[in-house]
Amino acid sequence: MALERTFSIVKPDGVTRNLIGEVVRRLESAGLKVIGSRMVRLTKAEAEGFYAVHRERPFFNDLVRYMTSGPVVLQVLEGENAVAKNREVMGATDPKKAAAGTIRADLAESIEANTVHGSDSVENAKIEIAYFFKDGQVCPRG
Ligand code: CMP
Repeated sequence: MALERTFSIVKPDGVTRNLIGEVVRRLESAGLKVIGSRMVRLTKAEAEGFYAVHRERPFFNDLVRYMTSGPVVLQVLEGENAVAKNREVMGATDPKKAAAGTIRADLAESIEANTVHGSDSVENAKIEIAYFFKDGQVCPRG
């Protein structure tokens, strides 16, 4: 097993409905450690840059509008197989397709307001973490 880092966002619907603690509780219960965390309201430019790979998708403008509609919590998570573990705890992107007991099946409102984002690979996790966190803002706990 590999010690990995992944990147997580509690999206505006999760923050608005007071679910920050519930999301973090589920992630921590799965063995993931929060080693970086900050709350921000993303600018349009930040959201567009973060989701640049989806630029050509029909939902891109709505996604950017949604992700800038309220505060989010940006987090760096560390643990054994952190990327896969986080994805398992989150469930599928569409809450209607997410397995029972996952964050999105239990808490998400729609495919857009799906409560959490998580990196889909170790490579993208590195890119996403670097997009939002400087070295000094991450605190490995060993
Ligand atoms: P996320 O993991 O943050 O990555 C891209 C986001 O686009 C995704 O979660 C969804 O919340 C959002 N999205 C909105 N509509 C769609 C769609 N039709 N298909 C996939 N993702 C969508």
